[in-house]
Amino acid sequence: MERFYITTPIYYVNARPHLGHAYTTIVADALARFNKLMAKETFFLTGTDEHGDKIVQAAEKNGMSPQEYVDGISAEFQALWPDLMCENDDYIRTTQDRHVRTVQDILQKVYDSGDIYFGEYGGHYCYGCERFYTEKELEDGKCPDHQTVPEYISEKNYFFKMSKYQDWLKEHIQKNPDFIRPERYRNEVLSLLDSGALEDLCISRPKSRLTWGIELPFDKDYVTYVWFDALINYLTALNYPDGELYKDFWPAANHLVAKDILKPHAIFWPTMLKAAGIEPYQHLNVHGYWLVKDTKMSKSLGNVIEPLKLKDTYGLNAFRYFLLREMSFGQDASFSEEALVGRLNADLANDLGNLFNRTLSMTHKYFEGKVPSPVDEEIEDAEIKQIGREAMKTYQAMFSEFKFSRALEGLWELVRGLNKYIDITAPWTLKKNGEMERLATVIYVLLENMRKIAVHLWPVMPEASENMLQQLGICFDPRKVDLAKEVDVWGLLESDVEIAKTSNLFPRVELPEPEPSNSMESAKEKKSAKAKKNAPKQQEGNGFIEFEDFQKLDLRVGTVTGVEVHPDADRLLLVQVDMGEDEPRQVVAGLADFFAPDDLNGKQVVVVANLKPRKLRKQLSQGMILAVKTEEGMQLLTPMDEVVPGSKVS
Ligand code: ME8
Ligand code: MG
Repeated sequence: MERFYITTPIYYVNARPHLGHAYTTIVADALARFNKLMAKETFFLTGTDEHGDKIVQAAEKNGMSPQEYVDGISAEFQALWPDLMCENDDYIRTTQDRHVRTVQDILQKVYDSGDIYFGEYGGHYCYGCERFYTEKELEDGKCPDHQTVPEYISEKNYFFKMSKYQDWLKEHIQKNPDFIRPERYRNEVLSLLDSGALEDLCISRPKSRLTWGIELPFDKDYVTYVWFDALINYLTALNYPDGELYKDFWPAANHLVAKDILKPHAIFWPTMLKAAGIEPYQHLNVHGYWLVKDTKMSKSLGNVIEPLKLKDTYGLNAFRYFLLREMSFGQDASFSEEALVGRLNADLANDLGNLFNRTLSMTHKYFEGKVPSPVDEEIEDAEIKQIGREAMKTYQAMFSEFKFSRALEGLWELVRGLNKYIDITAPWTLKKNGEMERLATVIYVLLENMRKIAVHLWPVMPEASENMLQQLGICFDPRKVDLAKEVDVWGLLESDVEIAKTSNLFPRVELPEPEPSNSMESAKEKKSAKAKKNAPKQQEGNGFIEFEDFQKLDLRVGTVTGVEVHPDADRLLLVQVDMGEDEPRQVVAGLADFFAPDDLNGKQVVVVANLKPRKLRKQLSQGMILAVKTEEGMQLLTPMDEVVPGSKVS
């Protein structure tokens, strides 16, 4: 039997899980389910990484012992996964005894073979990454990931002779083109290996500095450095070296990570395995970042999106669909609720939901809710069946290569094809003309294809898939499915089976009301929220506000005296406005897409002067500039003739 072993990174427990973690684990779950349907035996591992300085720091900050602290957050991660319908087979924690034993076993093996030595080292240590950086790797002296200045540390430590395996690794990557995928990351690693000699890897910390780690089996005064500890989790869970799981699943090992931890997985890990006499993993699969407004979502930046909130608002199945459909695996993707709502309405409510609603209701209208028996096939039927075969083939091939977005796009060719098929065959006309045999075939073609779609969607939307199948009168059992065969098999849906009257699995969704915001954000929202109308917003009630409500606004004219681009956000401008006060005010405005700083200098603008000051990307904004978004761009509101700065608008 073919096998498939999928792992997620083990997450640091220094903060709560966010959308980034949810994405990786949901992808792993979808892959495990997909491979089950492809008749493979699967093993899906996730867990938490609990040793190291930053965990100790987080525990201290929370006034807890490290153990208490890691128990709490690890439990939170563990509890999240069932809520997101992620069915991992094991949950590993690096503080478990089984893991301590495996790490010490491997350390001893590598030490005995002479690949670990004692030496002195100085380097730039980033606590966020838990690793040393070389001068070359730093950007402006800062960690490229965390944008913090690393600490220079020099001390005696144990080192792993990573450099010894550089040539072997290069050759292995060259010989196995999909060892690291997608290709851009393979190229990145190869060019890193080409750019110079690998340094040996510092793998210890003196206990005088850190005790929260696994003790070196050959020196009680040291604990092992977090990566040498963490990576080994993938073996611990398979009961390396003697376990059946290890024998069965290690040859099929697929690691799933984001690009932040490419180097440890692509360079440290294979060389560690080599030194320990273990075969390399099969594939390293690397995805990009979820961004929020062009910045990586991360706990250290504090711009995280909580997966459970989205699940509660939009439903888990839709949320999972969005994540897999929206991100091109390997590239970064921007998260926005507008994009989520857009996708749900277009792909799920419109395309898929309508297909189910229309077909179920026609089956009830024309055949008393029972699956009719097909008769002769006509050209349209052959055509849609061909579209179906292509769609399923694409879906399966793309899913196997971790190209989820393209897989779903491929399957939607069939979903949309079927909606067109309804329009072309016009079942209502067939009914009117009494062509009942033809009508029976048409409805059967629709229902059988819907069954195929529902089965294919189980990895992505497990619950919705089971519901769709139930609506088609099928009790779903993943062990009985052979997805590969679905491409060519026809007619598994039995006639005369009673089906549901209505579907309504994917209702249309609306964006929640935006919070009050300044002109830049509302402009942005309008730009991307296709769902939203251009009509003015009406208040609750009769739609009018009181004069006193208007009077609360302090609108004033000011003169722009200076403009520059926001240092951390190239769509924002820092605009200095003379409002007749002692000093000009700074207003952060989302105008950079529309105006060059020079266009604005000297212009008079209307400012909401009593808007509560707030910080936008660390820059203070004291007001809001009024502007009109048009088809062509943006127009500023300005008086016809120059007025004294600070004049009130009324
Ligand atoms: O690095 N977009 O743990 P970690 C996409 N303990 N994925 C994201 C993301 C984002 N904005 N933010 C986080 C560690 N992730 C180590 C791993 S493995 C032996 C040890 C996901 O808590 C993504 O999978 O920092 C990324 O690789 C991982 O969380 C990093 O999790
Ligand atoms: Mg991280």
